[in-house]
Amino acid sequence: MVSPDYKKRYTAISPGAIVQDALPDFRIYILSAQGKYVLWALEGNKVSTEQLDRLSESGMTDVFVDLEEKFKYEQYLENNLGKILENKRSPVDQKATIFSKVSTNVVKDAFETCLGMGTMGSSAIRRTHKFVENALVFIQETKSLPALAKMIGHDYQTYEHATKVLWFTTVFLRNNQDLLERIQPEAQAFDDEKKLDVLRQCGVGALLHDIGKSLIPQEILSKDGPLTEVEWEVMKRHPLNGLAMLVDTDLPVFVKKAILHHHEDFQGGGYPMNVEGKNINILARILRIADVFDAMTSRRPYKDPVPPLKAIQIMIGKPKARKEDGDSGHDDRDQGMKRCFDEELLQKFIVFLGNMSLSG
Ligand SMILES: [Fe+2]
Repeated sequence: MVSPDYKKRYTAISPGAIVQDALPDFRIYILSAQGKYVLWALEGNKVSTEQLDRLSESGMTDVFVDLEEKFKYEQYLENNLGKILENKRSPVDQKATIFSKVSTNVVKDAFETCLGMGTMGSSAIRRTHKFVENALVFIQETKSLPALAKMIGHDYQTYEHATKVLWFTTVFLRNNQDLLERIQPEAQAFDDEKKLDVLRQCGVGALLHDIGKSLIPQEILSKDGPLTEVEWEVMKRHPLNGLAMLVDTDLPVFVKKAILHHHEDFQGGGYPMNVEGKNINILARILRIADVFDAMTSRRPYKDPVPPLKAIQIMIGKPKARKEDGDSGHDDRDQGMKRCFDEELLQKFIVFLGNMSLSG
């Protein structure tokens, strides 16, 4: 089957997304040497190991789906994410891209559901849990770290930001497992199973930490310039909105509290409750760090990304470089940051970032 109209009809996908035992309900095409799109797999048919072997031997880096079937492909990715991420034959960079894409869709849909219903339904929570479960399998793979680290410095968009905060939070906690016990000290029998369960719950909290932003008008969220006082007050409602959306779900209390408190400052003065110190739970204190680090190192409408090392310097309270030094690094919103963080956790986070760049 061929079509000359490829730009309109086809979208490239990674062959690593196709797993051998799953049945795609969409057609897959390859691009021939003559520039024609040729049907490679019919919907409803298993893609065999031999087919996949031949594809990888041919060195083809893309296969294609009809744009009209893209939503089926995205559903396929989410339904088969575990297998796709465990697939040893596909390159880790491709897997990281798929991971990020599915994550973006999960968060986007969660935001849209919340916007429509004002609350997060149990099926959306189950879906988020399922995604985080698969995400955790992927981050256990050491090789995934450098691939995921490449996401640092990308544009700041709410859905992508949520993915990066999920990743920072869970990899950090995986490397600092003693913290898991402190996050939920009342847990009985803190065995490996329980640790994994807490880690998953933390992942769900990280992914949904900004869910309350779904009620903030888009013109405030993506404003290209400083917020007015009124806009800022609206923006500051998002942790409370988030709690309201999740209060009736069966998420553990520590996750709900973390979402409520992820903008509280360790030395006080944060929002929305102005609580401080140990009254802010550990997960909220970790989210505060991961959230700020990602926001600073991402490109935003009103500023260039800050290099990771410089972001750390700002977070530990090094004075701001003067503008006349030609420094475009950060704006006043980044000032006075040291007081925001639990110093012990920030130190651990810096060590974690250091280890990560070594492994890259
Ligand atoms: Fe936030």
